[in-house]
Amino acid sequence: MVKFLIINGPNLNMLGKREPGIYGSQSLSELEAELKKYGQQHQVELDFLQSNHEGVIIEALHQAEGRYNCIILNAGAFTHYSFAIRDAISAIRVPVIEVHLSNIYAREEFRHKSVLAPVTAGQISGFGTLSYILAIQGAIAMSRGGNSNGG
Ligand code: DQA
Repeated sequence: MVKFLIINGPNLNMLGKREPGIYGSQSLSELEAELKKYGQQHQVELDFLQSNHEGVIIEALHQAEGRYNCIILNAGAFTHYSFAIRDAISAIRVPVIEVHLSNIYAREEFRHKSVLAPVTAGQISGFGTLSYILAIQGAIAMSRGGNSNGG
């Protein structure tokens, strides 16, 4: 059975309450329950981590080596400036898919740059909670050897 780790970074514990016009009304625990169900329907085991701390995310990436087939990461605002998370992604062989609920390219200028994107397998941005489902589909395809981006 393939196993993926879904990491949500800073402020994503506030989903449902936080700027619902941008991030929707679903809470993080509701989102995780929906993803878990989707995983079960597709023979995928999912683990979840949410942290507001850069170091916790970095350590989770290090520890994922050998334990997960893929990591799905919404690094929140760390996306835009954390070279430490970028280096952690580069340091492991497990592929990382970057996800965002909002379309980061349609928002403030500082969100247009992802320092993580160049070292990820790919990025999904702007589909709300569906971004995570699309990432799981991508992770399943990659785990079965069907990575279509050549990476
Ligand atoms: C986000 C986009 C980031 O710019 C922001 O800082 C977040 C959430 C998203 O899922 O749309 O915290 O990653």
